[in-house]
Order: sequence, then C-alpha cells, then structure tokens
Amino acid sequence: MINQEDFFKKITSHAKEYGFVFQSSEVYEGLSAVYDYGQNGVELKNNIRSYWWKAMVQFHENIVGLDSAIFMHPTIWKASGHVDAFNDPMIDNKDSKKRYRADVLVEDYIAKIEDKITKEVEKAAKRFGDTFDESQFVSTNARIIEYTQQIEATKKRLYGIMEQNDLVAFKQLIEDLAIVCPLSGTRNWTDVRQFNLMFSTQMGSTAEGASELFLRPETAQGIFVNYLNVQKTGRMKIPFGIAQTGKAFRNEIVARQFIFRMREFEQMEMQYFVRPGEELKWFEYWKEARMKWHLSLGIPANKYRFHNHEKLAHYANAAADIEFQFPFGFKELEGIHSRTDFDLGAHQKFSGKKMQYFDPELNESYTPFVVETSIGLDRMFLAILSNAYTEEQLEDVSERVVLKLPAVLAPYKAAILPLMKKDGLPEKAREIMDELKLNFMCHYEEKDAIGKRYRRHDAIGTPICITVDHQTLEDQTVTIRDRDTMLQERVAIENLSSLIFKKIKG
Ligand code: GAP
Repeated sequence: MINQEDFFKKITSHAKEYGFVFQSSEVYEGLSAVYDYGQNGVELKNNIRSYWWKAMVQFHENIVGLDSAIFMHPTIWKASGHVDAFNDPMIDNKDSKKRYRADVLVEDYIAKIEDKITKEVEKAAKRFGDTFDESQFVSTNARIIEYTQQIEATKKRLYGIMEQNDLVAFKQLIEDLAIVCPLSGTRNWTDVRQFNLMFSTQMGSTAEGASELFLRPETAQGIFVNYLNVQKTGRMKIPFGIAQTGKAFRNEIVARQFIFRMREFEQMEMQYFVRPGEELKWFEYWKEARMKWHLSLGIPANKYRFHNHEKLAHYANAAADIEFQFPFGFKELEGIHSRTDFDLGAHQKFSGKKMQYFDPELNESYTPFVVETSIGLDRMFLAILSNAYTEEQLEDVSERVVLKLPAVLAPYKAAILPLMKKDGLPEKAREIMDELKLNFMCHYEEKDAIGKRYRRHDAIGTPICITVDHQTLEDQTVTIRDRDTMLQERVAIENLSSLIFKKIKG
C-alpha cells in the first residue's frame, strides 16, 4: 500500500502534468507558496466557485452577492484588529535556519501523542475483535489516560500563553516539551517573536503623499463595510446574508503542503446578519448547512469532521471548523464563526458612521450579530483533487489513473471523439460538438488511438467520452463510455444533452 506522503507527491505531480496547477514564476525558479491554475485547473476552480455560489446565493432568497475591491481604506484593518493582532508567533532554528510557527510546533507535538492513542486503540481493536469496546478501553487504559492528560496539560499551557501573548513562556513551553527541529534535529531555538501576516503596499505617486495600504487578508471586511449599502439598496430584512468570493493575501510564515497554505489564495465567504441573541441558533444552522453542501458532492462522510474551537477569538462566541482528511491528515477546510457584533461595532467606532439596522418587526434599531461561513477555494480544490485521484489495476494488468471528480465539477463534461480521422467522422463529431458546447464545456479530440484518448480524459476527470463511428453516420447513434465503470453503451445523438445534464445533476 502506498504511503500518504507518496500519494500526496503523486497528486501534486499529476496536477502539474495535466494542466491543473503550476508553480508561479516557474521559469524564474518559482515563487514560494504562490501557484497558477492551468487550463484544466481554472475550469475545476470556476466550477467549485459556481457550485458554492449557487448553493449560497441562488438557492437562498435572502442571500445576495458582492464583489468588493481588494484595496480598502487602511483604517478598516485597524478597526478589524488585523493591524494589531493578525500575528503568528514565529521561531527559528539556529542550526537549520528554518522558520516555524511556534504554535504549529506545539500542535504537531500534540498530534504525535494523538497518533499514539490511535495506534493503541487500533492494536487493541485487533486483539479483542468483535468484543472490543472502544470507549471503555480509552477511559480505562493507563497509557491512554497518561497520553490524554499530557495533551490536556499542553493545550492548557498553549492556550494560556496565546491568550496572554507571553512570548517568553512560549519559548519555555517549546523547551519543556523538548521539541526538536524536524530538519536539524536540534533544540537550538531563537526567541519567539510576533509576525504580522498582512502584505502592505503604497498608494499614491510621491513618497510623501503615498499612504500605506494592505492587501486584504480576508474578504469578509469588504462585506461588513458594505452591509448597509446592500441592506438599503436591496431592501433586505434580517436575517439576510451577503456572499463574496475573491482573492486574499497572507504572508504565511510556514507555507507548505502545496495549495493548502498559500500566500495568495481565494476565499468564499458569507456573512449572515441576525438579531442579537439569535446568533447561536443560526450558527448551528450554518454548521449543518455547510456540512450538507460538502456531502452533496458525494465525498464519503468519514472524510469530514467538525472541530469545535475550545479557545475562541476575542470577537467570537462560538466557532467550529469543518476539517477534511487531506493526505497529510485531518485539517481545516472551512470555518463557521459566530462573530457577534464585533466587526460592525468596531467599524461604527472607527468610522463614526452608524452601523445600525432598523428592525420593522421589533420597531427598534440595533447592531446585527453576524454568523460567518468561510472556505478557502484552493483548499476545497485540493480536497476534491485528493479525493478524486485514483490508481486502478485493470483486468488486462495495465494501470490507469483516473480522477473520479463529481461530474458537476469536472473541467469537461464530455469528450467528443471521432473514431478515425476520415470517412466523414470528424465532420459528424464536430456537428455534435457544436451543439453540445452551447450548454456544456466539451472537448473535441481526434489525435491518437481511441484507447489513449480515453486514458487522457480519465486523467482529467471527464465523466463521459462520446465516440463517433461509422454506425453513427447510418443511424445517428454514438457510443458513450462512462469514466468510472468504463462501460460503453449506444445512445441516440438527440439524447446526449439530457444524458449529460442528468450526470451533472447526480
Ligand atoms: N473571515 C474569516 C477567515 O478568514 P480563516 O479561518 O482565517 O477565517 C478561512 O480563513 C478559510 O480560508 C480557511 O478555512 C481556509 O480554507 C482558507 N485559508 C486561510 N488561510 C489560507 C492560506 N494561507 N492558503 C489557503 N487557504 C487559506
């Protein structure tokens, strides 16, 4: 069985080989943690975005869209707390010269203990077979109890340190846990320092007149500062939502794991404005609704889990992540946060403008509370790609790589393939292509043997291949080949559109 590290390497090289993701500025040796999407990647990315937009905006009559600018008034970032507190604690290893996030080093330490617990449980499950009672085992096994206590104690110290922003205690924690640099293997650490993650730039033509701007680190603030514009012009009544997709920028200290953690990435965010006191009800609603969205793509439920935050940011009164099982373990894919009235209240204070909503049903004004759903588009792309990548041994002992993408997200919905480049087959295939491309992203291909063309489309996840042969000219039927089952059937050309549509609807 292939290990997860090798599996992840295969996905990244497949993404490059088949035009999904390229390293940015590759001809200049690349730019770290920045990526470009190729001809197939951009289609997959657009389809994920559109699937999200439909679910959030098209299917909710009380949610509308927005496209706010990346550049915003710098005071917005002061009000939101990003100037003062959007920091990560960093630490360097003096021997390897590698930089790490101090909290990630401690979290990795905790994850290793968690792995030990999982292994103990797996061993015991094998030993006891059907009679195994996991919860009893976990609560009574001395070694597991000790591990659990270690985890609790470490978390308590970590959260306390982060809350107090005590950088000296942070270094002490790393020393006490005897954490070594994964590269050099030494404990020769620098002090822990805070590092602000926002990128800044200048607006204005002269040095004196120029003002410092930030590239937005989240799209959400564009929604907050526009909320009354949208509410008034759209005559929205609470509860209502504003959705936005767009680029965000973070100068991540440790940017690794391909498109999982990038310095330029895209978010899909929705802020839901509710009556104060009703936010926790809506928080639960959105947790469930967002999980349903993920499962609607047909990805197995055991690849997802919730992680409820024990330590809440100062502006939140509830927060949860939807985690996905990436090849490198369960990691955050999406966040659902109950952000209270923190952001609107802060913008009211800093701008001096009223951010209140008049509720006609209650006949009173108040600052709405906000529940937010926030998902990284690139992370979702990676989740979809890693779930779809499949290597299959075929009956004739050859192998194929197939991307079992949900049809609705696949870059091409169908490939149109004339069996031969003669006898009028290309002309007939072109006719079909011209009809189908009005509604679906299709790909026409006549080069190479048909088997090779099938394999190429398996590798980019095209759900259906349509082959035009001599019989087509006689009876207006084609062969369609299913990507996943590889089964072929004969269908009438006039039924192709409804067939593809059915496939997309799932
Ligand atoms: N407005 C809330 C917010 O920005 P976040 O947890 O910092 O919350 C939301 O980010 C989502 O954005 C994450 O769940 C993740 O999917 C994505 N994300 C955050 N940082 C990222 C990065 N450096 N690269 C790729 N995606 C990232």
